This record gives sequence, structure tokens and C-alpha cells, in this order.
Amino acid sequence: MSRIIRIFDTTLRDGEQSPGCSMNLKEKLEMAKQLERLKVDIVEAGFAIASPGDFESVKLVANELKNTTVASLARSTEKDITTAYEALKGAVNPRLHFFLATSDIHMEYKLKMSPEEVVKQAIAMAKFARNLFGEVEFSAEDASRTRPEFLYRVLEGVINEGVTIVNVPDTVGYATPDEHARFIGGIRNNVPNIDKATISVHVHNDLGLGVANTLAAIQAGAGQVECTVNGIGERAGNAALEEIVMALKTRHDIYQVETNIDTTEIYRSSRLLTKLTGVKVQPNKAIVGENAFAHEAGIHQHGMMANKETYEIMTPESIGLKENKMVLGKHSGKHAFVEKLDSLGYSSFTPEEVVDLFEQFKVLADKKKDISDKDILALVEQKQLAIPEIYFLDRFIISTGNTISTAATIRLRKNGDLIEGVSLADGPISAGFKAISELVDCGELTLIDYGVEAVTDGTDAQGEAHVKISDGTHVYHGRGLSTDIIDASLKAYVDAVNQMLYIKETQEKKNENS
Ligand code: KIV
Ligand code: ZN
Repeated sequence: MSRIIRIFDTTLRDGEQSPGCSMNLKEKLEMAKQLERLKVDIVEAGFAIASPGDFESVKLVANELKNTTVASLARSTEKDITTAYEALKGAVNPRLHFFLATSDIHMEYKLKMSPEEVVKQAIAMAKFARNLFGEVEFSAEDASRTRPEFLYRVLEGVINEGVTIVNVPDTVGYATPDEHARFIGGIRNNVPNIDKATISVHVHNDLGLGVANTLAAIQAGAGQVECTVNGIGERAGNAALEEIVMALKTRHDIYQVETNIDTTEIYRSSRLLTKLTGVKVQPNKAIVGENAFAHEAGIHQHGMMANKETYEIMTPESIGLKENKMVLGKHSGKHAFVEKLDSLGYSSFTPEEVVDLFEQFKVLADKKKDISDKDILALVEQKQLAIPEIYFLDRFIISTGNTISTAATIRLRKNGDLIEGVSLADGPISAGFKAISELVDCGELTLIDYGVEAVTDGTDAQGEAHVKISDGTHVYHGRGLSTDIIDASLKAYVDAVNQMLYIKETQEKKNENS
């Protein structure tokens, strides 16, 4: 029997800490549900004490996931640990993940604690945590730069108190693969009670070695790996989940281990995260990049036609990338549409949601001749992330040119009432955004990020726009989809405003009830 390597996903915690990757409550829940479909073993839902928003998201994810272990990060203090406990109460299998730095540089300059104080604190908090949690993980932050003898002492101490997962992060992405393997070997050989715990690794990617170091650690005996979808995370990111999992699967001959991951959910997980954060993966990114399975060179195409294995070491289908040849069009009926949804893995929509999606599909089919899988996925994802629409883009007229100022007339609908406004600016997008921000009367809104991308090739392609706005305290992310890029952009701006109002309203209700 091969060893099972547990996949600990920290997309919603370490990943979410990276610039531009923050997600709101609903977005985190959508991602957490997708991680459950991907069958990760543990979802680290956040850092419960970090903010009220983090607390709420850990709690929501803990309450909603049906099978997956949910973890919260905590520093080594009683307050952090009890806060994590409160947030995780509803989880089927809650796990506390507490940490304390053990390297000399961190102890001296960050913690301002002596090594003796650090050992004492780690042991005391392990004991405290074990009274509240059935499953406790300890991370020795900056472990890869910690004096080995000291690390062994700390790990032995916490395991004695009942910690069953010891994580040894390469916090600053400094390790190299051989060294990392020796590091894990050292722990196995020198921590006397290590047989009572699983060794976990958590590798950052500062030298681009995150996945290589993780794989080396697995070969040396690590039983859990911490990683993120698309490799998002602090600075250069964390080791990428999809790369680790597909390396283990594709080179099973070398690694001889299994994971519980349903690899056919990888592509969908990657896409959803991109959609949620607006942060794209580079086209040549391994496994999930746009070009990962594209063969441009004639000589490659020739080989592929003769035998796929000439240039393909894994199939696109194995990560859930099925380019289903059945293209839909305006004559396709609801039956074919539902079949397509099923084949793309979306069979859990309610009948009302299917009717709604089918109507959107029909509208699209009137504008676009062939509807591809990517078009349908774009519609479905838009639906999954939909929130109550306080403002609705009713219509717009924009006159523009290279010798005149652009004028945008925007009409919005709010609770059945129509409101209209006009704005002048340098271009159609800025004029439209300006008119909307004046109409919605939500104070000063700053545009933080904006982008639009074609869903498929062709001049009739749908444009997917994303807009990030800030009200001075928070950033809100909106998305819009249309065959007209101005329409998509304005819809994305209105969606960002709706996201803001929805989040504020939800927070107010929560405050009233507490
Ligand atoms: O990189 C790191 O050391 C961490 C720990 C808190 C696990 O993220
Ligand atoms: Zn980290």
C-alpha cells in the first residue's frame, strides 16, 4: 500500500494574504466548497483572530463544509487559541494550527524572547490547545533556518503534549531540495517521539523551489504538505497544489505515494480562484496555465497526431480540462444545455437556476454563433458569484471619439426606480465609471484595478471584466460579462458597488444581532 500524503490547503489563509488576492465572505465560501470538491484533506480557512471578517469566514467555512477538516491559524497565545476555538466550533473536524518562531533571528528580533521562553511557551500552548481541540498542529515558524538541535527540542516538547502534526515551514523560501530532504531526515532521526506525529512541510517560493522542496520532503518522509491553488501566497507565493499533486501522480513510479485529490477538479479550482481574485496565472504556468496543454509547433502537432504521448506526459482530461467538441448554438434546446452543464461537472443547480442560466445562454446565442465550453463556464461562474442586485445597469449611451471629450449617459435601476446621470471624461470606460459612481451616492470611490479579457477567440467573443474599487477602508471586487466590452466593464463596476453594499448590509445585520 502506498503512503497517503495529506494535502493541507492554505489558499484562504496564506494565499489570501498576498496582494490583490483578498476575498470577501461569500467568495471565500465558494472557494472553500470548491476545495472540498477537489478533496483536499484540510482547508485552512483563515486566521480567526486577525479581524472580525477573518473570524466570520473561518466560522462560515467551518459550518458549511461537510467532510473536510477545517483549520484556523493562531499565534501561541491563549486568546488566539480560544478565538480559533470559537470560530471552529461548527466544523465536522476542527483543527487548531498554532505557531511560534524558532529561528534565532525571529526569536531575537521579532519575538524578543529567549530560546528557553520559546520552548516553554510552545509547550504551554500545546497543552492549552489540547484541552480544547482533538487535533492540534504546531508550526515552528522559520524552521528551515532554525538550529536543528533546538528545533528537535521544541518538536519533542509539543508532541509530548499531544500535538499530532508538526509543521516545519521554510517561511522565507530559503531551502534547496537536497537540503530540505536532509532537514526532514534529521527530524525523523532526532526527535525521539516523532512516530506519534505527522511531519508537515510548508514551503514558500522565493527561489522558485517551492514545489521541488515539497517533493523532496515527501521523499524524505513528510506526510502532509501545505500549499495553495495557483501557488498564490506571501511574496513569491507558496508551493502550488496542482503542481505537487500532478507531479506525484504523473511520476508515481518515482514517488510511490497517493493523495486523496480529485485531479479532475484542478482546472475548475484554478479558474474559480482567478475569477474570485482577478489575479491571473501566467500563460506558461505548469498544469493550469493557458498554454500548459497547447502545442503550437508543427513538429509537435505532427507527433501528437501520431501518438499523444510523444509530447504529452499527462492528459488535459486528468485535470478536468475537457474541450468537449459538442458546441452549442442558438438552436440548441434546454436538454442539450443541461447535458452540457452536467458534462462540465455542474449538476447541482436548482431547476430555477437552470432556467435562468438557459435564458442567459439564449441571449448569448443570439449574439454569438458558436457557444463553447469556456462561454458556458463563464456564465456559470458569474451565476455562482451572484449577489442580490441593489443597482442594475439598465442602459447606457456613450459618445466618444479621438477629438472630443467622451460623454457617458448611464441609467441605473434601484428597487424599481430609474436614475440617470451624465459624465464627461477622457474615454468611454472612465466616463461610464464616473457616471455610475456619482449616481450611486456611496461617497468617494477609488478605482484600484480594472481589466477585461476575452473568454474565447473571435470577434464575437464574450468579454469578462473585473473592477476593484475602494471606499477608503476596504476593496470590493466586481465582475461583468458581455459580448460588448464596455457593457461588461460597466456591469463589473455596478457589481463592485453591489458587493460593497451587500457586504456592509450583511455586517450591519450581524452587528444588530450580536
Ligand atoms: O510561512 C510560514 O511560516 C507560515 C506559518 C504561519 C505556517 O505561514
Ligand atoms: Zn507561509
